[in-house]
Amino acid sequence: MDIRIAEVSDLRALLAHDRHICRAQLERKIADQQVLVLLDGEIFAGWLRWGMFWDEHPFMNLLYLLEPWRGRGFGRLLVTDWERRMKAAGHGLVMTSTQANECAQFFYRRLGYVDAGSFSLPGDPLELILSKAL
Ligand SMILES: CC(C)(COP(=O)(O)OP(=O)(O)OC[C@H]1O[C@@H](n2cnc3c(N)ncnc32)[C@H](O)[C@@H]1OP(=O)(O)O)[C@@H](O)C(=O)NCCC(=O)NCCS
Repeated sequence: MDIRIAEVSDLRALLAHDRHICRAQLERKIADQQVLVLLDGEIFAGWLRWGMFWDEHPFMNLLYLLEPWRGRGFGRLLVTDWERRMKAAGHGLVMTSTQANECAQFFYRRLGYVDAGSFSLPGDPLELILSKAL
C-alpha cells in the first residue's frame, strides 16, 4: 500500500467517489496539499482530506476507504500517516467529527481520539467532535 499527497492526476478518481465536495473546491484542496490518497499498487483505495479548524488545528473532514479495503488496518494506516505528517508540520493536536449515529466514532476512539463536544445542523443527526493530542 502506498500513501501520498493527492495530485491533479487523482482528481478523476476523487471526483468519482467524493460526494461532499465540488470540483473547484477539490482542485483547491489538491493545490493546497490537503488530500492524501491510499493506493494499492495503481488502484485507488481511499482518501483523507482535511482543513484547518480556527486556521490552527488540522481537522480531518473526510476519511473514506473503498469497500474492499475496509477492516484490514488501512484506515488506521492512513490516519496514522496523516497524524505523522501533521506532527512533522509542527501541530500538537488534530481533530475530526462524525455523526453520532455512525460507527466511525468507535474507529476514532480506538485510534486514541477523545470526545471534544458536539454540534447539530438543522435536519442532520448530532455531530460528535473528536480530538487527539499528537
Ligand atoms: C471507518 C473506516 C475509515 C475505518 O477504516 P478500516 O480500515 O475499516 O479500519 P481499520 O481496519 O484500520 O481498524 C482500526 C481499528 O479500529 C477498529 N474499528 C474499525 N471500525 C470499527 C467499528 N465500526 N467499531 C469498533 N471498532 C472499529 C478495528 O477493530 C481496529 O482495531 P484494532 O487495530 O485494535 O484491531 C472505513 O471502514 C471506512 O472508510 N468506512 C466507510 C466510510 C466512513 O464511515 N468513514 C468515516 C468518517 S467520514
